[in-house]
Amino acid sequence: MAVIADRCPQIDVTVVDLNEERISAWNSDDLKQLPVYEPGLDQVINRTRGRNLYFSTSIETSIKSADMVFISVNTPTKLKGLGAGQASDLKWVEACARQVANYASGHTIVVEKSTLPVRTAVAIKTILSARSTQPDPLNANEDYPTFSVLSNPEFLAEGTAIKDLEEPDRVLIGGEDPLAVEALALIYENWVPSEIILRTNLWSSELSKLTANAFLAQRISSINSVSALCEATGADIAEVSLAIGTDSRIGTKFLNAGPGFGGSCFKKDILNLVYLSNYFGLPEVGYYWQQVVTLNDWQQKRIAQLVVKKLFGTVSGKKLAILGFAFKANTNDTREAPAISIALELIEEGAFITIHDPKVESSQVANALGCEPTFNNKISISEGEWLMVSSVEEAVTGADAVLILTEWDEYKKLNWANLSRNMRTPSWVFDTRGIVDITQVKSAGLNFWRVGQGED
Ligand code: UDX
Repeated sequence: MAVIADRCPQIDVTVVDLNEERISAWNSDDLKQLPVYEPGLDQVINRTRGRNLYFSTSIETSIKSADMVFISVNTPTKLKGLGAGQASDLKWVEACARQVANYASGHTIVVEKSTLPVRTAVAIKTILSARSTQPDPLNANEDYPTFSVLSNPEFLAEGTAIKDLEEPDRVLIGGEDPLAVEALALIYENWVPSEIILRTNLWSSELSKLTANAFLAQRISSINSVSALCEATGADIAEVSLAIGTDSRIGTKFLNAGPGFGGSCFKKDILNLVYLSNYFGLPEVGYYWQQVVTLNDWQQKRIAQLVVKKLFGTVSGKKLAILGFAFKANTNDTREAPAISIALELIEEGAFITIHDPKVESSQVANALGCEPTFNNKISISEGEWLMVSSVEEAVTGADAVLILTEWDEYKKLNWANLSRNMRTPSWVFDTRGIVDITQVKSAGLNFWRVGQGED
């Protein structure tokens, strides 16, 4: 929404939320306090806030005056009930649709921005049409509102969100009402070339978003399966992925082996695809996509177990340093980060974990691991303990091993000669992102393991 406001100064954009604390954080004078860390976002907010971008908790009046409403709420995986563990929980989408139905006036275009299971628009339309046939009880003279529903999924990736929005590969608009589709296309045409604005039917648009994520995630699970094969055979994953990726039909992007994919989308969306496939009587299709997630979980477990194996089969009482807790670089998001399951596995084995990340807070880690940082008192869920530290030096001092789990730039330039002085002997560097300078690590006398290459 901030980028739309930036690129379309003639349009007023109001972001509304029930959560007062969050809205006031978005209104904070201190741009470092914005709730989301995203490179370049602070400058966009600085340019637009108060000009034509507003953050507010006045949901009713904002909906009333809006020509277009974007439903941009989260759709987490259901934890219980029908479809638990796979289906998306649409309660927030439904709540939004009901609010829009209650407060809208005149003709309102309702845009699905959240990633939604295919055919969600039916539910939204049904909720909206209930209001179209009943007068506003508070204002008997008012005309019934009318609605058009569009699907306009978001393809941005975290960490590069502003660039992805400013220079998208494509914009997808699904809908049945041509006037509504063109009204939204007109907004994007302020900065996006019209030939990359794709118009589809509603269901194609909804399904494209889910399956685009599944295809991307599938590449990572494929390359990670090959990474294990490389380690077992002496092939080198960097060489193999270059050889695969230079086939222009496959392409070089999204073929970096690593600790497995994380983030708020891939796992959730694939599980939802599995659920939908089974729902539509296609269990083989569901099983096929389930394997992408299964392989991702396996890669994380494999790395944790490998660390234990290399450290003489036990990490109990040993200090292990985790560098990077975010699910990838340039974001403070830890949702589904591979670091979570790897850290939990090692804590379970009795290790003491020190964690460093340039943007992630200790409270986020506590939330993700489900236990508070502890020293010597066993209130955590297992025997192990963890602590967040503010420097790499502190993290690695006294450590038996360092695990690099996020590809932050600062981890590419570490001075291993200095760091190794304070580590135990023998000690290890496990590079799950393939970013460390091997010669430096080796000349510092450290043992080295890299994903897809194995021990050096
Ligand atoms: C993803 C999609 O890219 C985006 O289009 C969609 O709108 C939302 O979901 P995001 O989750 O922000 O975006 O991150 P992305 O850059 O896609 O990375 C996802 C995960 O895959 C990260 O954990 C990343 O480290 C991992 N990854 C990515 C790899 O392990 N190897 C790769 O080659 C690429």
